[in-house]
Amino acid sequence: MKNTVPLQQERKFNIKELFFSTTNEKGRIEFGNDVFVNISGYTKEELVGAPHNIIRHPDMPKLVFKILWETIQSGKIIAAYVKNMAKDGSFYWVMAVVFPVGDRYLSVRLKPTSRYRDIIEDAYKQLLEVEKKDGVEAARNFLDTLLKTLGFKSYEEFSVKALLAEIVARDNELKKIHAHESEQALTNELLRMISAESKAASKYTEEIFIRISELEKSNSIFSGQTKSLNEKFYDFQLLSLNIQVFSSKIGEQGRSLSVIAQNFNALVSNVSEHLGQFEIDAKKIDEANLIFTKQICALKLLTDMVDFFVQETLHATNPEESQKRINDLSEISNTFTSLARALTNTFSATRLETFKLIEKFGELNKDTRKLVNGIELVSQIGYIESARITSQEVDFKHSIDTMKKFSEILRDSLHVINQNTGSILNNLSTFDAHIEECFQSVKKIFSYSLEQRKEI
Ligand SMILES: Cc1cc2nc3c(=O)[nH]c(=O)nc-3n(C[C@H](O)[C@H](O)[C@H](O)COP(=O)(O)O)c2cc1C
Repeated sequence: MKNTVPLQQERKFNIKELFFSTTNEKGRIEFGNDVFVNISGYTKEELVGAPHNIIRHPDMPKLVFKILWETIQSGKIIAAYVKNMAKDGSFYWVMAVVFPVGDRYLSVRLKPTSRYRDIIEDAYKQLLEVEKKDGVEAARNFLDTLLKTLGFKSYEEFSVKALLAEIVARDNELKKIHAHESEQALTNELLRMISAESKAASKYTEEIFIRISELEKSNSIFSGQTKSLNEKFYDFQLLSLNIQVFSSKIGEQGRSLSVIAQNFNALVSNVSEHLGQFEIDAKKIDEANLIFTKQICALKLLTDMVDFFVQETLHATNPEESQKRINDLSEISNTFTSLARALTNTFSATRLETFKLIEKFGELNKDTRKLVNGIELVSQIGYIESARITSQEVDFKHSIDTMKKFSEILRDSLHVINQNTGSILNNLSTFDAHIEECFQSVKKIFSYSLEQRKEI
């Protein structure tokens, strides 16, 4: 690509194109693939050794890079939208995922096409204004508030969901393109093998995406149930108080009902504590879901990047260049493979923790059901006792009906919770095998290309 695009024009690139660069601990560029070099408009020689802000665009708020560095320096992966500037002044947007690798960093980028891109462009404009007027920390508060109004609890949640949206949007677009393409490009056996591996990995990641979204749905039904029950507790505690007040009005006759109301109250408080625990656990599952999504998105992006880079390398025509590229490929393969392994490890550890949590749910559910049985028993006794009361002053039957209704609502909710626990466990059980397949695909793509390089 030549530097012919005038200032402030967008530098276009194909949705198929993925690019990456690696840097040292200070952010000086060490390596990048062809697309990275071409889009930047600089030569490879100009880029290698240069600080990464060589392509910084003045429209980018400082805060975004501050968050980026804070995150990667603490050893975590970050996804961020970045507007970059090519050598000729033209701009291009990317969704970048930056990985810490030992004391170095790797950034893999894709072309953003989801609805979040426009949202973020507007948000960055506002952020820049706040930053210029009141400084970076004011911009941080502004960003937090903005993300909350968009329904995200944190930048982390926003960035993971945006990354997922970008990956899904890109995949959908690629499927449309592939539907019109024949397999003519894959005349080479090696390329066919690589493409088959990459497709297999995509199939597994797609399957995991579906499972994760099912997990999210189950969990939101689950937390919906506990939330709506918790909202009703106040009414039921009031009910028991009312029964006690009324029963004291009718003197000796009401004594047994007062005891029933006290028992009911104790049981309700106990159930409320159990549901509180359910709510805490549901939040933990949400957090685990975010980790699953992040790891699998990152792994999917790495796999696609490996596929793209290997193809780029294998297409080099000049034999000398080809050998040099194979050496680069060999070197970078360790970085990608060890990253992919780290992702699968985090994924599996989170899966195990979530599995244990859900197993605990089963016990909690059983205990809560015992309490519900207790409430039912108390209401049965309540019916018997209220039938004995001759006073016309108060309608105890109505109160006992409400008590019974409460136990029915609880029983139904516990049933729904139980069903969802089952489907969450089901979804979790497939995760490890699928993610391992993805990792194996990354390894195979490298080993095919490195083992068979002489035949190219
Ligand atoms: C792996 C990696 C990739 C990066 N990619 C970009 C990039 O594409 N564009 C960019 O402006 N900054 C990128 N940065 C951040 C820059 O190092 C720098 O923080 C940023 O450009 C802000 O520069 P400034 O501090 O001079 O304002 C990257 C950093 C790392 C570690």
